[in-house]
Amino acid sequence: MGKGEIVAGYLAPHPPHLVYGENPPQNEPRSQGGWEPLRWAYERARKTLDELKPDVLLVHSPHWITQQGHHFLGVPHLTGKSVDPIFPNLFRYQFELNVDVELAQACAEEGARLGLTTKMMRNPKFRVDYGTITTLHMMRPQWDIPVVGISANNSPYYLSTREGLEEMDILGRATRAAIEASGRRAVLLASNTLCHYHFHEEPEPPEDMSKEHPENMAGYLWDMRIIDLLRQGRVKETFELLPKFIDEAFAEVKSGAFTWMFSAMGYPELAGELHGYGTVIGTGNAVMEWNLVKAGLARAA
Ligand SMILES: [Fe+2]
Repeated sequence: MGKGEIVAGYLAPHPPHLVYGENPPQNEPRSQGGWEPLRWAYERARKTLDELKPDVLLVHSPHWITQQGHHFLGVPHLTGKSVDPIFPNLFRYQFELNVDVELAQACAEEGARLGLTTKMMRNPKFRVDYGTITTLHMMRPQWDIPVVGISANNSPYYLSTREGLEEMDILGRATRAAIEASGRRAVLLASNTLCHYHFHEEPEPPEDMSKEHPENMAGYLWDMRIIDLLRQGRVKETFELLPKFIDEAFAEVKSGAFTWMFSAMGYPELAGELHGYGTVIGTGNAVMEWNLVKAGLARAA
């Protein structure tokens, strides 16, 4: 085999409110809309994803938490209901997806070879977490591309941030090696919110956008600083600032997906395309794309 490649990476956050606002048939609760600028940002991302024609979507979600090691979905076909434990009133989603088990297994093996604890998830009745499902739905609502789902070991929360993110860097390198050996055209999805300060009371109805704004000015300023660096392709500087951003903005990138994705792409100093930014219950969310084909950094260019 061989000659596989990563064709793009997307920052693709997972507030379930976006699925709720869209009213797809798979989600039980109904809304009057809401969070349109972010949902329209995802529409733009869906279009570019479609043009890339990937064989597989790899997603790392902070809400599939595994205390021991990094786990990978390892069942070829999964179906069931995914419910957000915090917002069951907004997200009860009937999912059905196909897993690229061969690539998942290869990622797990490469990770183990580089010293990580990895494990395949073989439970056929496994309920896929709402982070994975929301990111995948918002990027590809047709559900016609196989996926590799990766858990959050959450090592940055019980080791130091730096040690935990070093593990995610290794997981990224393992993912890249597995993709290259697989022959697949792969897209990486980092399912992360930026500033994570949020409101503690929900408006009635939840989609009342007159109540939606950044929870925290300092957090908003941090988000703009990070997005501005990323839009200029100043990736090295972004990663130098990341631990401070995580501490001061309570940023969800701490859970590792963002580092995993950039490590797998080789930290290219490439300007990211911002499809849109918006808040959800006060948290900061950016939909951004690093298209390695357009940039001439993928073989397909
Ligand atoms: Fe989250």
